[in-house]
Amino acid sequence: MPLICFASPKGGVGKTTLAANVADAMRRQGRRVLVMDFDPQNTLRLHFGVPLSDIAGFMTELPKRPDWREMVRQTASGVMLLPHGSIDIRGALGLAHALERDPELLAAPLRAILTDPSLLVIADTPPGASHALSILAPMASMVCAVLLADATSAALVPDIDSGRFLGAGTMAALFAGRLRVVLNGVDPNTRLSRAAAETVARHLGPRLLGAICREEIVAEALAAQRLVLDLAPNSQAAEDLREIARGIEAALPPVPEPFSPGWGAR
Ligand SMILES: Nc1ncnc2c1ncn2[C@@H]1O[C@H](COP(=O)(O)OP(=O)(O)OP(=O)(O)O)[C@@H](O)[C@H]1O
Ligand SMILES: [Mg+2]
Repeated sequence: MPLICFASPKGGVGKTTLAANVADAMRRQGRRVLVMDFDPQNTLRLHFGVPLSDIAGFMTELPKRPDWREMVRQTASGVMLLPHGSIDIRGALGLAHALERDPELLAAPLRAILTDPSLLVIADTPPGASHALSILAPMASMVCAVLLADATSAALVPDIDSGRFLGAGTMAALFAGRLRVVLNGVDPNTRLSRAAAETVARHLGPRLLGAICREEIVAEALAAQRLVLDLAPNSQAAEDLREIARGIEAALPPVPEPFSPGWGAR
């Protein structure tokens, strides 16, 4: 039932990396998890070992109103995956146009998925504003904004703090309550990274879910098409990911019993 969106006003900050690896961490903590890729870059699948040559996905089929259940991949991690699908620029513009005309193309099947009370859905979104994010945010239990521990990200904190990043006026105030922040790429050995992390932490207080260190193994895991907890379970990054997953878990309603089948087996 709960939907968690990874989003950010800024690109390249680690949204996809976190969506994939937090999904894996939450699966290991006992959740039944579906990850969905709403970004036309279609890279979420790579974290789960789906070959580059496999370009099928649910978003590219959206205008044909497919049954998403038939498109779900069972991955070796146990996390279920709906890849975006590969799309060229004309296709991406056409899809954006279709969503603008008829948001229900996406909203209706998503609402159907979210009726499954034992399923945790984690969404990866494109950088900045997108039709997908505007449809997902009102349905989300939590929007997890990812920032880097640098000056540009620190400058974006007021936008995140006020909810302006997701809307204006009353909508911004509504969303602000669901926004949490993860700082990615923190390097305790550099002055700027430390200072940016401390500034963001002071400003956000408990809305800061936690931080992930900058560690080469995180990028190497993607290159190897593996998840961090699988490739390097004893790394600092793995410990940070587990901590973020525990923080998200603590903010969610407990897993309902009895276990409800429907969205694929464990
Ligand atoms: N904590 C980290 N330590 C080292 N490298 C990292 C870390 N987090 C992410 N990276 C690397 O940074 C790059 C960008 O990460 P990612 O693709 O997850 O960002 P993104 O926010 O999803 O980007 P986009 O805005 O393009 O969707 C990737 O090569 C990833 O492996
Ligand atoms: Mg991404």
